[in-house]
Amino acid sequence: MYEHSNTQIELSGVYTAYMGAEYPVIRDLSLEINRGDFVIVGGPNGAGKTTLLETINGMLHITHGSVKIFGMDVSTKGIEIRKKTGYVIQSFAFDPLTPFTVKNVVMIGRYGLLGCFNKPREEDYKAVEESIKMLGLEDMADKPIGTLSGGQQQKVLIAQNLAKKPDILLLDEPFSNLDLCTREFVSDVLNDISSKGCTVIMVSHAFDALPDKDLRIVVMDDGSLKLNETCHGSKVENIIRNMSAVT
Ligand SMILES: Nc1ncnc2c1ncn2[C@@H]1O[C@H](COP(=O)(O)OP(=O)(O)OP(=O)(O)O)[C@@H](O)[C@H]1O
Ligand SMILES: [Mg+2]
Repeated sequence: MYEHSNTQIELSGVYTAYMGAEYPVIRDLSLEINRGDFVIVGGPNGAGKTTLLETINGMLHITHGSVKIFGMDVSTKGIEIRKKTGYVIQSFAFDPLTPFTVKNVVMIGRYGLLGCFNKPREEDYKAVEESIKMLGLEDMADKPIGTLSGGQQQKVLIAQNLAKKPDILLLDEPFSNLDLCTREFVSDVLNDISSKGCTVIMVSHAFDALPDKDLRIVVMDDGSLKLNETCHGSKVENIIRNMSAVT
């Protein structure tokens, strides 16, 4: 785990563009996030929330400015950074005939650490078992992933990223398929890993199951940062709703 500094993510005057696009999506964004922070990213459709996560994960071209994660430049050290960073993507759909079990899919989270052509070690099986347990997926661990419901599949993708034992976990609308009870359960899991030092950055429009503690709220609009402040989980919805420009 990276222990040298409290600032784990540092964006300075960043402009990010998609391949072939005429204009950058993110413009002049500066943001610092500390180790163990729990960050909620809000803002309207098309504001640049997913683009922000992909920028932090080193997946996009940074045209100006710099992104440093664990003190390393994401443009040159992306592979190293992604070994310690989990990313639960916004949209996914497993074909019903996908031949992988839940356990297989969670094990994919270990491949970046293991290398594609090496056999899983005891510690890899242990990490898979632990994250399946954390998400309460024991009963379906040997089922083919495609036979699970959308909400169950979403939990599997979270378990896959937890199996990596990341220092940073990025989640893009992880609650979109989950019922309230499951949202509260997953929120507790995320709160738990964040209190143990994992930085959690979550794009979400669901405010009814946020952890009962101080959170960082980052609101994006039209590729820029409109708000960056700390507030209690119970106040996040009001603050975002009151920003008339972004509701
Ligand atoms: N692959 C891409 N190529 C070019 N432009 C893109 C691409 N993906 C997104 N964009 C553009 O970037 C802008 C921000 O998109 P982004 O997906 O980051 O929004 P978002 O805030 O995550 O929205 P949503 O709430 O709908 O998920 C949009 O104008 C979108 O059209
Ligand atoms: Mg998005």
